[in-house]
Amino acid sequence: PTETRVSDLLSRMNLEEKIGQMLQMACGHGDPSEHIFERKVGSLLHIQNERAALAMDLAAKTRLGIPLLFGDDCIHGHSFHPGATIFPTQLAMASSWNADLIEECARVTAREVSLTGLKWTFSPVLCLTRDLRWGRVNESFGEDPFLIGEFACAMIRGYQGKGLDDPEAILACAKHYAGYSETQGGRDASEADLSKRKLLSYFLPPFERAAKEGCMSFMTGYQSIEGVPSTANRWLLHDVLKEQWGFDGILVTDWDNCGRMFWEQKIVPSMKEAAALAIKSGNDLIMHTPSFIDGAHEAVRDGLVTESEIDEVVARILNLKFRLGLFENPGKPDLERQSAVIGCDAHRETNLEMARRSLILLQNDGILPLDSNKPRKIAVIGPNADDPQANQGDWAGASGQVGWMKDGHPRECTETVLDGIRTIAPEGSTITYARGADITLLKDAVDQTYNDGQEKQKVSVIAEPDEEMIQEAVQNARAAEIAVVVVGDNNFLVGECKSTATLELQGGQRALLEAVAQTGTPMVVVLMHSKPNVLPDSIQNAAAIIESFNPGMMGGTAIAEAIFGHFNPSGRLTVSVPYHVGQQPIFYSQVRGQHGEKYADMTQDPHFAFGFGLSYTTFAYSNLSIQKTESLTREDTLHFQVTVTNTGDRAGRETTQAYVSDLVTSATWVNKELKAFQQVDLEAGESQTVHFTLPIASCTLVNADSERVVEPGDFELQVGSSSREDDLLKATFSVSD
Ligand code: IFM
Repeated sequence: PTETRVSDLLSRMNLEEKIGQMLQMACGHGDPSEHIFERKVGSLLHIQNERAALAMDLAAKTRLGIPLLFGDDCIHGHSFHPGATIFPTQLAMASSWNADLIEECARVTAREVSLTGLKWTFSPVLCLTRDLRWGRVNESFGEDPFLIGEFACAMIRGYQGKGLDDPEAILACAKHYAGYSETQGGRDASEADLSKRKLLSYFLPPFERAAKEGCMSFMTGYQSIEGVPSTANRWLLHDVLKEQWGFDGILVTDWDNCGRMFWEQKIVPSMKEAAALAIKSGNDLIMHTPSFIDGAHEAVRDGLVTESEIDEVVARILNLKFRLGLFENPGKPDLERQSAVIGCDAHRETNLEMARRSLILLQNDGILPLDSNKPRKIAVIGPNADDPQANQGDWAGASGQVGWMKDGHPRECTETVLDGIRTIAPEGSTITYARGADITLLKDAVDQTYNDGQEKQKVSVIAEPDEEMIQEAVQNARAAEIAVVVVGDNNFLVGECKSTATLELQGGQRALLEAVAQTGTPMVVVLMHSKPNVLPDSIQNAAAIIESFNPGMMGGTAIAEAIFGHFNPSGRLTVSVPYHVGQQPIFYSQVRGQHGEKYADMTQDPHFAFGFGLSYTTFAYSNLSIQKTESLTREDTLHFQVTVTNTGDRAGRETTQAYVSDLVTSATWVNKELKAFQQVDLEAGESQTVHFTLPIASCTLVNADSERVVEPGDFELQVGSSSREDDLLKATFSVSD
């Protein structure tokens, strides 16, 4: 049995080998020998293929031959393998509201990643999107804890496949545990202003579901809560995750979290104390803190940590390595199969389907869909209309952005909107293209480096409007029947440590939009960005708006297909879109009863609500009914149904959303919470009764004593097409003791 193998191996390891097992080092460049023979590390990141194979061979030559565990951030596809399938970002995938497809995409990623020697991805992200200025909104599933739990579990199933010894499976990693997205002013990794009750109420539930789903690794967040960095939070790491939820995988810190407690957060006076604190708080693997080795040795020497405490941690790591079968098969990269599998047609097809499903139609005066048989004069305009990196988004190894994949993905892997329109537009159409504006300029770019000398990213400057570029776009728009304008952000304005102070469209884009709008040519605006922007009047008056976020390598095809009506868009927002940056945070499930919460100078409503999305058809809701509305107990299940009718003249897919509001609660609670949803495909004129079941046990709140309870009393069920009051039918039920 595994336990016997673990204790046998452990009994033969010296302290140096044990401490080494607890360290994961980045090895983006160069020879891995130093990490393996000198530091005796147990895990590497940012390494794959030939270099990973070399590292495996070297590890086999060490005294005990303990295999390495390789991981990376393959969070919407294999980020760092040229030509790998890059899916829409997690936020875009969430817009599909389709857990099965999300699972399938994760399966494809696992298949591609596992062929390159990696056995672990640092995904999914379970952070709740709150302030949209945060640089990592694109990595989240949006703002709703229930939805995050649903999609995270789907992704975990997809990555981890049939089991840990499945050669095409990789470990999933639930991150960033926990509360990381509760920023101040949107600034990444700032101290999270969270009480324990707030954590328990909204931030922990998705993580609990991930643990119960069998997610084999968790990663701590960078930030601290109530003065305690996540990495030092024994309650969070040990008591809740390991004891209460029974998590038996490994817990990895984020990048240098251990060292940062000493040199940045300054809550300990030395690396010895930092290492001891990390170990005692419940961390297993320390990501990229080289000085952890010396710190941990000193901590043991000076009695801050006992060797048996170290043994406990190392046993967890070894246990996982045995269960993964790494001792029998280290998972060598399969270079031959890579060319047949990575980026293959079947994977591109799954990617295209996900891109289609993730598109959200936000506005349409009837211009869309364009007749797919009528040749058109179309002006394709905008900085993101023909930029492969805007399609791929962050964590896609974009050229020049991340040092270890300098050239990015080959150009032909990505279908931009320009490519898509050129391919899909009816024969005889005239397509022109003008970039029209820059978002950022690399002119004065500076290379940043990690503290180990690896190149990190270029920092660029925001562009000014360029009159010549704008005039070219205006000429094209004037000569066209329709202008398809693709705007948004780029990879220099998104990511870790790259939050934005504003949500405006940056660079020359607003001037460009204004100028194109003034031509009078109808505008179809495609938003291609990491996160919602506030929309200038020129866009608010556009004929149509399609939200695509970063739609992945096949995004341009999907967008062109949507424009020409090859399919009917059905995506729904999983984040509330504000009118103004000052409305942040504006998520739909606000705590009710804040009497003075209205702004004096503008609405407190979002521009586009959570759950919102249009279709080329229309849907109507009727006959909401609950089977039994009285004398329900905590053990009961609520059965309810609603009729959804396609009232338009073409087939479409509707996402029926069910929210619950507990009408009187012992402590203030949110106005409504999403509890269930279902997608229905309806032909024109067709009606369908959609049946739901909802355990009463899920109608909880966290009371003032921080206990999650169902409180007897009256509840309101709200069912409809979005979280907006006007879109919901209502019925009540009551729960008794
Ligand atoms: O996995 C990431 C994490 O999300 C942010 N910091 C770096 C890690 C490894 O690249």
